[in-house]
Amino acid sequence: MQLDHIRRDYKKAELDEGTIDKNPFKQFKTWINEAIALNIADVTAMSLISIGRDGFPQSRIVLLKDFSENGFTFFTNYNSDKGQAIDFNPKVGLHFFWADLERQIRITGTATKTTEEVSKSYFHSRPHKSQIAAVLSNQSSVIPSRDSLDNNFNKLIAELKGNDPEYPKNWGGYLVKPIKFEFWQGRESRLHDRIVFEKSENDWQIKRLAP
Ligand SMILES: Cc1cc2nc3c(=O)[nH]c(=O)nc-3n(C[C@H](O)[C@H](O)[C@H](O)COP(=O)(O)O)c2cc1C
Repeated sequence: MQLDHIRRDYKKAELDEGTIDKNPFKQFKTWINEAIALNIADVTAMSLISIGRDGFPQSRIVLLKDFSENGFTFFTNYNSDKGQAIDFNPKVGLHFFWADLERQIRITGTATKTTEEVSKSYFHSRPHKSQIAAVLSNQSSVIPSRDSLDNNFNKLIAELKGNDPEYPKNWGGYLVKPIKFEFWQGRESRLHDRIVFEKSENDWQIKRLAP
């Protein structure tokens, strides 16, 4: 299969030290707002990169549900592969790519569990069937068949008679506190802009990297 002819030049925007916000959280906010305004599909989808016990990195998409200067929050099953990897090594990466804006953002940070209060409140804000799916899915474990999943789902729906399930303690949020951001803007002829923020004592060091 030939793929080597697939390429495009990036021309939409520029990024420079003079105009980038000196606060990377504010810069993130500007960029995600621009992505939201464009109605980009799954705009909050980000790759979460973790390193498990086997030493290999693993990446998977999760949805960003909240962010502030305290960090970036997503929700998952704490017993899943990613949950176990984070227990072992809380240093993680987050990665956004918005093709329509020719932009990517890489974030490096440390993950901690959100409080049970935050997790519970978000859990119960989810649609009824999503709550049920979270309760019955022993995420990342091997299951016998698709049918077994559907049967368990339908059984639980019938049992609950329209009531929401109890909050499962093995499900909740992680807050990723960044120590590094990279904002990448695609440019012509592969001479892209890359501006990196690295956390020092009380502020952020800003550097430009070669593309
Ligand atoms: C668009 C999209 C959004 C997703 N959002 C989440 C999420 O917020 N939380 C989650 O646990 N899994 C989410 N997933 C599923 C994960 O990518 C992954 O399959 C699952 O969490 C199991 O990963 P693990 O076995 O590495 O723990 C999403 C997948 C996609 C494609």
